[in-house]
Formats: sequence, structure tokens, C-alpha cells
Amino acid sequence: MTINNEQLTINNSGDASLSVSFCGLVFKNPVVAASGTFGFGREYGEYYDLSELGGISVKGLTLLPRNGNPSPRVAETPSGMLNAVGLQNPGVDAFIADELPTLRRYDTRIIANISGNTAEEYGIMAAKLSDAAVDLIEVNVSCPNVKAGGMQFGTSPALVAEVTREVRRNARVPVMVKLSPNVSDIAEIAVAAVDAGADALSLINTLLGMRIDIKTRRPILANVTGGLSGAAILPVAVRCVYQVARAVNVPILGMGGVCDGDDAVELMLAGASLVGVGTASFTDPFAPIKVRDGIEKYLNGNGFTLPSDITGKLDA
Ligand SMILES: Cc1cc2nc3c(=O)[nH]c(=O)nc-3n(C[C@H](O)[C@H](O)[C@H](O)COP(=O)(O)O)c2cc1C
Repeated sequence: MTINNEQLTINNSGDASLSVSFCGLVFKNPVVAASGTFGFGREYGEYYDLSELGGISVKGLTLLPRNGNPSPRVAETPSGMLNAVGLQNPGVDAFIADELPTLRRYDTRIIANISGNTAEEYGIMAAKLSDAAVDLIEVNVSCPNVKAGGMQFGTSPALVAEVTREVRRNARVPVMVKLSPNVSDIAEIAVAAVDAGADALSLINTLLGMRIDIKTRRPILANVTGGLSGAAILPVAVRCVYQVARAVNVPILGMGGVCDGDDAVELMLAGASLVGVGTASFTDPFAPIKVRDGIEKYLNGNGFTLPSDITGKLDA
């Protein structure tokens, strides 16, 4: 397996030992706050300096503002949670005007996560966000395609390729496509995205789930179904990263159920260069920092110098 993850020994932050080069961008460490679980960083910024993070993937953006789904929008599950927040966000223009300047004050990579109803909408957002100079665009393909009768872009290689091409054509920053695990062959979708121009891939998004209140005999979520995330999904994420890393030759941001450094190391051994921390931040705001420190401890304790020393180094 070849991993396109050239490592740098120096970077601007001086934190050389944990730095990762990803699509030609230096991340000071491999830990990225996962989209939708970190807002625009305002709340977490009250707990610690966000410059401690390798990157922040912001709350999913749409072309126009969205109120999201009706409540209840979250439900607890064993070792995880279900959510159907429904992409509540102020819209891409308000993000650029009101949130990006504040985020830019931190010395961390800013990743704009985008969702669209059509491929054209994705393209328009990619152009606006490139003008605004975000570091990377993350394309959430787990959205219903209005023109294809609501079928999710992310479940079809042809639709993923169409969206990726449109974003790539409009973007002037690296493009990362975020894959859904709700497919029978995730490697096939990964290859379609890379062939259409994706510079990187991130995975996994949430797994489709559902819970029922047995007293009322009604679904717990107003949306009926929702996305499963948290510790419970780590083994699915490790499997998906492993399969995708063997199928493509672009760097991977791996996520799904990461709670500590050892979880992150599993995803890196499977092929991830960067690691996302999502649901874990809800129970412990410091989770991303602890994950970063845990990766460093593993590297030091096992004779490795750099994060890239373990990326894709599964002994199988
Ligand atoms: C409440 C919530 C909102 C999310 N919103 C988005 C989103 O807007 N865009 C996106 O690509 N992923 C979104 N995700 C998925 C996460 O970024 C991540 O891929 C997933 O939760 C798995 O990681 P985790 O188990 O560490 O949370 C969301 C997840 C949660 C729990």
C-alpha cells in the first residue's frame, strides 16, 4: 500500500514531531475536530486554545441557511448516539462573514464541510469558500440528491463522481470527499471519488440507525431514522479505512468512534494520515487534546518518530 503522506520535520508551529503533510498542507498534529460535533469552535474555544488542534472541520454548510429537523433530534444508544440534526447552519455566506474571521485567529487548519441538494450547489459553495481561503473543502455526500428523487449522493459511484467533478472544477483549494459507510462496497465509491478528482478522502460519516420508544411505540427521533456515531462505530471505521486505503492512493482523514489515542492509532495503522474526533467531544470537551497526547505517547513508547511512521503500517 502506498500512502501519499509526505512528512515534514519542521513546520510553523515548532511542533515538529507530530506534524503531518496532507494534500500539501502542514497539519501541526493529526487530530481534527469532526464536522457537526464542534460547531464553529466558539463553545470549545472557551475550554482550550483551538490552536492546539491539527484542524477543525466546521459544522456542515449549505448554500442557504437551514433550521434543521424537528425535535427530538438526538437519542442515546449503547456506546454512542443517534442524531438527525438535519444540517442546521446559517448558510455559506454567513459562515464566511461571521464565523471564518474568528476561526482564522487560531493557528489551525480550517476545513469547510459542504452539503448540497444538487451538484451545482456544491460547485457554487466550493467557489465561494475558495475565495474565502479556507484550507480544505470537505464534501459531505451523505445528502439527498433532489434531482435523483432524494437518493443520497454518497450511495452511488456515478453521483459521487458527478459532485466531486463539480467541486473540483470550482475549487482552488484541496478537495476531500467524505464517504458514507451506508454502502455495500465503500472502496468502489472511494475509487469513483478519486477518479473524479478528489485530492483526499475522509471517512466514515454516521451509520444509518433507528430507535423506538416501546412505551409509546413511536420512533424516538422525529425524523424516524438518524446517524449512529460514537465508540460503538470504531470497528466499522477501522474496516472502512482499511478497505479504502488499499483501493486508492490519496491521503485519508479517518474517523468514527475515536475516544482516545489508542483508537486513533488503530485508524492510522489501517491507513489514516489524520484522525477526526467527533462524538467524544460531547462527553469530554478535551477529548481531541487527549487523543493527540495519546498518539504522541504511542509513537514515543513504540520507537516511532512521526505520525506517518504508523500510517498504513498494519502488519497483516
Ligand atoms: C450531531 C452530529 C452532527 C454531524 N454533522 C455532520 C455534518 O454536518 N457534516 C458531516 O460531514 N458529518 C457530520 N457528522 C458526522 C461526524 O463528522 C463524524 O463523521 C461521525 O460522527 C463519526 O465520528 P464520531 O463517531 O467520532 O462522532 C455529524 C455527527 C454528529 C454526531
